[in-house]
Amino acid sequence: MDKTGSVTESQQQTHLESNNGGNGLQISESETSSRPPVNGGNLPLKRTRDDDLDYPTKRLRTQEGHSSKVAAHYNELKECGLQVRNESRIVHLRNFNNWMKSALIGEFLDRVRQKKKGRIAVLDLGCGKGGDLLKWKKGRISKLVCTDIADVSVTQCRQRYSDMKTRCRNEDVFSAEFITADSTKERLSEKYSDPEITFDICSCQFVYHYSFETHEQADLMLRNACERLCPGGYFIGTTPDGFELVKRLEASETNLFGNDVYSVKFYEKGKYPLFGCKYDFSLEGVVNVPEFLIYFPVLVEMAKKYNMKLIYKKTFREFFEEKVKNDEQKTLLRKMQALEQYPAPDHSKLTSDKEEDYEHAKMFIENGQPRLPLGTLSKSEWDATSIYLLFAFEKLP
Ligand SMILES: C[S@@+](CC[C@H](N)C(=O)[O-])C[C@H]1O[C@@H](n2cnc3c(N)ncnc32)[C@H](O)[C@@H]1O
Repeated sequence: MDKTGSVTESQQQTHLESNNGGNGLQISESETSSRPPVNGGNLPLKRTRDDDLDYPTKRLRTQEGHSSKVAAHYNELKECGLQVRNESRIVHLRNFNNWMKSALIGEFLDRVRQKKKGRIAVLDLGCGKGGDLLKWKKGRISKLVCTDIADVSVTQCRQRYSDMKTRCRNEDVFSAEFITADSTKERLSEKYSDPEITFDICSCQFVYHYSFETHEQADLMLRNACERLCPGGYFIGTTPDGFELVKRLEASETNLFGNDVYSVKFYEKGKYPLFGCKYDFSLEGVVNVPEFLIYFPVLVEMAKKYNMKLIYKKTFREFFEEKVKNDEQKTLLRKMQALEQYPAPDHSKLTSDKEEDYEHAKMFIENGQPRLPLGTLSKSEWDATSIYLLFAFEKLP
């Protein structure tokens, strides 16, 4: 890493050797055990929100040109509506991820408000179809810029915003702007309607890993995320945890791991280049576009170039355990049905029909007298979601 925080040519070519005891990627016993979380007294409240992640619902067709492949993939995702999503095998995983994003966004809006009064402007980098619009409305921001590589998603996001505004006629809804751009290849600052705009937060949810194809791309996306942040502003997001992925890969006998909900296939095992370390991620049997491993310490170093300091990096478990102590977040957890009710309510079934998916909940009940029903995730869903981490950087003055 040079003085500006850039990764030098030779570092770009460095490979991380797993379990080599040297300066490569160390795979320690994970502090995130594989046991899913359980939460007592989980009577769900009715879910009314329709915010969601853009999960794949179709098979990947092409193999050439990565950026256009990403755009084509997300453009072809169908908007399937709340009812279909509620019937999905991974409904609680989706809701759980959404709750995590809500808690992260809420925390950093609070932090911004502790520092300043007045208008809050946000950049949603890789906004998808606008799964977080309601979170920004709830957070009472003044301005949102939504940007994504997939033009169909941006159009749907714009439509969703316009529907939201119509629905909330009597409420004060933030103003919004929509930009279709490949943030790994284009400067966003040349595209804003207000060329002087600055942001209090850049939110990059389940996106940044697409940029780690090359150092150049990762750097430009980072620049887009950070260069218009005001001093004290935040770059927050969620992304797969490179350590966790490599740990699971190394524990597997093949170059593949996963379960009936998700699977990850690496192209190479044992060598993990800092950039371009490609793997295929599939959810519910559907192959997503290839993703790239992020070795987090590299991101921390690269961010220094943009005057960004890491505030924290947390696993999903760490963040969940911290946030669930807060009553407001706990209520939201129930409202968003982010955990599955165990045992299942009368006349309904658990989302997984595999008994071992709920072994942890059964044991939790046997080992104590918790208030029932519990809130939990099936083991398969937990294994899929616990791949991710949350991060937050702050712009130094
Ligand atoms: C898993 S989706 C997440 C969407 C949204 N952030 C959410 O949490 O619901 C990943 C998004 O990243 C976008 N994306 C991937 N590569 C991108 C790039 N180079 N520039 C801008 N957006 C990109 C995709 O089009 C997709 O909408």
